[in-house]
Amino acid sequence: MRLEATNKSVGDIKADIRIVFVCDKNLKHRWIEERKLLEKLGFDGADESVCLLAQSGVLFVGVENTDDSESFRIGAAKAIGALKGLKFKTAAIGCYDKKSLVNSAAIIEGLLLGAYEFNAYKSKPKPFELERVIISRENYFDAKISESDLTAAIERAQIVCEAVNLARTLVNTIPEALTPVALADEAAKVAKNYGVDCSIYDEQFLAENNMGAFLAVSRASVKPPRLIHLSYKPKKAKKTVAIVGKGLTYDSGGLSLKPSDYMTTMKADMAGGAAAIAIIAAAARLKLPVAVHSIIGATENMIGGAAYKPDDVLTAKNGKTIEVRNTDAEGRLVLADCLCYAQDTIKEIDYLIDMATLTGACVVALGEYASGVMGHNDKLKTALLQAAEESGELAAVLPFNRHLKKLIKSEIADISNVSSTRYGGAITAALFLSEFVEEKNRDKWAHLDIAGPAYVEKAWGANPYGASGAGTRWIVRYLERIGA
Ligand code: BES
Ligand code: ZN
Ligand code: ZN
Repeated sequence: MRLEATNKSVGDIKADIRIVFVCDKNLKHRWIEERKLLEKLGFDGADESVCLLAQSGVLFVGVENTDDSESFRIGAAKAIGALKGLKFKTAAIGCYDKKSLVNSAAIIEGLLLGAYEFNAYKSKPKPFELERVIISRENYFDAKISESDLTAAIERAQIVCEAVNLARTLVNTIPEALTPVALADEAAKVAKNYGVDCSIYDEQFLAENNMGAFLAVSRASVKPPRLIHLSYKPKKAKKTVAIVGKGLTYDSGGLSLKPSDYMTTMKADMAGGAAAIAIIAAAARLKLPVAVHSIIGATENMIGGAAYKPDDVLTAKNGKTIEVRNTDAEGRLVLADCLCYAQDTIKEIDYLIDMATLTGACVVALGEYASGVMGHNDKLKTALLQAAEESGELAAVLPFNRHLKKLIKSEIADISNVSSTRYGGAITAALFLSEFVEEKNRDKWAHLDIAGPAYVEKAWGANPYGASGAGTRWIVRYLERIGA
């Protein structure tokens, strides 16, 4: 589906269908000519509702609060969803902004996010017929929208949403196909396409670099692990950001095996890694003035004779010893070594951000829709929350405290890989990671637990079933902010 900007007014665009947002319960706006009919149908412009008047050639979409750009983003995604399976080839739409292009930019994103489909495993996929959406500068409000602003918004949204959709496809792909080696191949493709450097390391490198925690997790799998390091280094970088992504292409739980109901969807345990790849792709394409490193620990967590065990003690790259008490808390083991690698390898990191589907506890705490933000630096956490808000993603801080820290003590090693109590598991996982962040980088580090929103089992917001690409829009926005 292509997007085009035009100077024509919405009514003058030749298109099979017009998409009109209803932002007023009284249905009074000049763009709404079918008020009587809509009233008869009981359509009052409620959020996330759509009404297709095919004969009039209009698709109405409800938006209750025009100050909330997310309502427009969701509305646009719902509109495209409503057109799936229909035969319309072209659609027309207008702008909806009082000042800057915030709502219209959200609409453009919603269109692109809503158009995503993953049909790789359908023998007879339904074709997606909509080929073009033509966006008019004509505005629902009276403010003028400049041609260059609209074109720029479309270009940015295309890059960002293609990145989101890349992350979605990586996550949606079955684990038998998207192995650690395959994920590394995909990362290499991204690097080649967008002028990003790429280094890929195998298990021998992990062994030579004493990454005993990462290696232990990977040991039972017949699919060899990979450490992926992508770097985008623009000439005049204002800051350097390292993104460390959890890349568990499958998490069976290992010997602390997951019950079957909890194992399904664990192909999505590489969603943090997928986002890390997608973000660097977008940063390079947007030519952001920020150096970005994406480091992904890619492996499976499996069972078998070679599996690591509860009771094992592992030594991470920084020499710290870890008592394994549960092999299903594997993400933090992989991330521990990847965090060490990032700090040892990259000179002058300004921010060190890890992204992971790390704990079910985070989903219990915040629900499925929001990610958890953890770390020692309040300013950094606030900036991340703000970027999330602007991107349309949901995030909330889960706070550390002195008591929780004691729960990951070990009697026999430096630290235990799980907490001694059932509560506060998202935070104790973050406190575990914190042990692998050097003192000098303490305030540079933030941990993002995306376990809730990464995989969507019941469609919500602008997300269809399956992978959401969580973290991608969010961190691209964050990089834009620190580059500004
Ligand atoms: N990958 C899971 C976390 C997860 C759960 C992600 C649900 C997405 C949805 C992680 O490796 C895990 O299994 N964590 C354990 C930790 C526990 C053993 C301390 C968990 O959350 O139960
Ligand atoms: Zn696990
Ligand atoms: Zn996991």
